[in-house]
Amino acid sequence: MQAETQSIVVISKDPAISTLVASVAQFCPGTGVHKCAAALSDINGTALQLASGNDLVIFRVGGSAEQDAAAVRGIMQHTGNAARILALADAALPFAELRRLTDAGVREVLPDTVSADELSAAIRKCLSQDGLPAGASGSRDGMVIPVAQSCGGAGATTLAVNLADCLTQRRGFRQQQPEFRTALLDLDLQFGAVGSFLDLPPNRCLYELASKGIVPDHVFAKQSLTEAAPGLWVLAAPAEIAPLHALKPEQLQALIAHLRLQFDFVVIDLPRALAEWLSPVLEASERLLMVTASSVPAICQARRLLDFYGEASPALQSDIVISRERKPLIAPSHHREAARLLQKPFRYWLPNDASAAAAASDHGVPLSAAAGRSGLAKAVRRMALDLIGTRNARAGAEQPSHGKAV
Ligand SMILES: Nc1ncnc2c1ncn2[C@@H]1O[C@H](COP(=O)(O)OP(=O)(O)OP(=O)(O)O)[C@@H](O)[C@H]1O
Ligand SMILES: [Mg+2]
Repeated sequence: MQAETQSIVVISKDPAISTLVASVAQFCPGTGVHKCAAALSDINGTALQLASGNDLVIFRVGGSAEQDAAAVRGIMQHTGNAARILALADAALPFAELRRLTDAGVREVLPDTVSADELSAAIRKCLSQDGLPAGASGSRDGMVIPVAQSCGGAGATTLAVNLADCLTQRRGFRQQQPEFRTALLDLDLQFGAVGSFLDLPPNRCLYELASKGIVPDHVFAKQSLTEAAPGLWVLAAPAEIAPLHALKPEQLQALIAHLRLQFDFVVIDLPRALAEWLSPVLEASERLLMVTASSVPAICQARRLLDFYGEASPALQSDIVISRERKPLIAPSHHREAARLLQKPFRYWLPNDASAAAAASDHGVPLSAAAGRSGLAKAVRRMALDLIGTRNARAGAEQPSHGKAV
């Protein structure tokens, strides 16, 4: 007989739920399922013991999501945030209740009509290392992607915001389950607009860093960001104008190092001006995206900036993003000239789509919510998939057998 190597406890008054989990688990060698016919919020101390003694808790949301969320918070506190919890809920559960549960620590809320395949996938994800919340594991080795602009208004902030949003790869019940945790940092300290693109208030944290000179620790990195959408965490620029050089290289180096441990992707909206603290940012970066028009002045400026970035971090890979143009079938001569000057091809193209861009920024939401079917949204999604592919290839090369088989 196969020894039990991991265990799931199902807490539900509804025997059909326990039976469904048991039927899924029988195809997962070494997984034991224990049943507890009760409501999570009714069993307090017992729930804490069950959570400590099992690898995964699955419960059926009862009459009050608020009480269930309180019970989940108790479990998370008791286990030092190590518990892995899935919930099954009525498909009509209101958004606010769903959010209450995920805020409390539930990894995923699935509809109780979930298929065996979907439940199996959620269990696998939850039990694998990748399913651990970043804050708890703190070992993500996130991919740092700075977004630069060759000229004012090039579309860099639009790209940074929407790329970060797409990199979360939200799926599942009402697109609420992010596959990746993404941090979006507005380092355009003086004129940052990320907050207004996502309807977030200014954030004083960078101003505090600049004025007090403190080196951020992991708590700062965790608490200074705001969740704008599931999986998308944002550090907006402050309302106060601080001199660009007030930030110090060691502060940015520490902040990015901590964020890399907590997030799968760290997207950074860079200022156009140059500052000493850009060096550690560029050194930590894996892929810089230079957003530019294809006009001669914009390309010349892009070249100057890329030379500067390359000196600061010789190993940095940078890609050209041509904004407000579709990729032509045959490259005209001025594109070929520009690519020669830049010593690299135009890699990505963002079509001119003022109405989609404005619909998103005017409503303070990402393109995915305002104009998800627009050409611009699709182009950003393709870029995100390309970058996810790069990250996964790198992760696969580094850790060939990462996950624990279920
Ligand atoms: N692909 C696009 N097509 C049409 N309009 C766009 C596109 N991308 C961005 N815009 C619009 O251009 C304006 C400037 O965009 P954005 O703020 O993203 O540029 P930026 O490079 O960050 O500029 P800044 O110099 O202000 O930092 C915004 O009004 C935005 O809605
Ligand atoms: Mg900008």
